[in-house]
Amino acid sequence: MKTDILIKNASQIATCAGCDRPRRGKEMSYDIMMEDGWVAAAAGRIVGIGKGDIPREIRVDDDTLVIDASGKTVLPGFVDPHTHLVHGGSREMELALKLEGVSYLDILKKGGGILSTVRATRAASEDELMKKAAKSLDIMLLHGTTTVEAKSGYGLNMEDEIKSLKVVKALNESHPVDIVSTFMGAHAVPTEYSGKKKEYIDLLIEEVMPCVKRMDLAEFCDVFCEKGVFSVEESRKILARAREMGYKLKIHADEIEALGGAELAGELGAVSAEHLLAVTNKGIRKMKQGNVIAVLLPGTSFNLDLGKYARARDMIEAGLAIALATDYNPGSCPTENIQLIISLACLKMKMMPEEVVCAATINAAHAIHRGGEIGSLEVGKKADIVVLDVPNISYLPYHFGINHVDKVIKNGRLVVDDQRLVY
Ligand code: NIG
Ligand code: FE
Repeated sequence: MKTDILIKNASQIATCAGCDRPRRGKEMSYDIMMEDGWVAAAAGRIVGIGKGDIPREIRVDDDTLVIDASGKTVLPGFVDPHTHLVHGGSREMELALKLEGVSYLDILKKGGGILSTVRATRAASEDELMKKAAKSLDIMLLHGTTTVEAKSGYGLNMEDEIKSLKVVKALNESHPVDIVSTFMGAHAVPTEYSGKKKEYIDLLIEEVMPCVKRMDLAEFCDVFCEKGVFSVEESRKILARAREMGYKLKIHADEIEALGGAELAGELGAVSAEHLLAVTNKGIRKMKQGNVIAVLLPGTSFNLDLGKYARARDMIEAGLAIALATDYNPGSCPTENIQLIISLACLKMKMMPEEVVCAATINAAHAIHRGGEIGSLEVGKKADIVVLDVPNISYLPYHFGINHVDKVIKNGRLVVDDQRLVY
């Protein structure tokens, strides 16, 4: 078989292979590694992977790109299953307030926070949003992320939600990084509906959500279920209708207060519940019963300086599948760097190196319903591969805060070489 790309002599390969559903609990660290390995790709797919000698069927021609990964580690391309990719502006002016002790929810209550990004997003043209988000996608790709989820939620009216989702669609078609789209009109109540939350929810359910679905602009629907934002009852109403319309479900649950978002995720059979800093044991049990993936975002705890992280060890003990994500957004977590999140997950949530690798690849792929296509290195899957300049996976979280990517292959094509974009 002719091979387009052959990566050989890798000191370690994290295959994350061999399980066709999310890895739960102890499975997250079981049998995901291979020493001294090679991977071959052709026509955008993985066609072979193994240890030691490369079999003769893997044919290397003059035009095969052969990458010597001696001393390096090969992983599936990172999957970032929770981002707020498309938005206008930035919020560095809130930093001083935060340092003075004003809370995230208090900034939002005063019309700042998400609502300030809503103003900037509404004021921005499609082209401006597109350029800004493309730059972030480039940064993600340079850090090894090959697929992301992107939520709307800074338009908060028909026109600007559709505008943001169209930008996601156009970027998915034009940028090497694949994007899975989520509608999140229930991210905050826009100022013009202040005191009229019920009317806003009706607008979402009766007009915006059916229109987004008709235009095929989003696969998932997400709600910010939080004190002072959307209650459990309101979230249930929105998500139950979303499910009837054919959306798959996600929920921002128990981020700051233990409201019961995790329980709701279990009840509705959501694909994932995200944040979960304040989740209760009952919430964890309900997620387990409903096969809900826990998407954890330690960058947000770090950046909001909440002094508290999600209880990853208890979740693993309870048999949940954990995925990791950046939560990239202009407020609670302005970073595109999944490698930093991986370090924080180890250092602050006590996740082990194998667990964080699994959480940022195969489990993250399942959290956006792409587990059959990406997230592991096995024959037939997309050739989304990163070569890290680290001798083993423990070195990745250990040497923190820098970019370890050497090369990125997306859909079988070299897109980052020697830390530079080459697409
Ligand atoms: O996931 N919590 C709600 N939404 C985002 C933050 C968005 C923002 O602050 O702009 C989050 O943390
Ligand atoms: Fe978020």
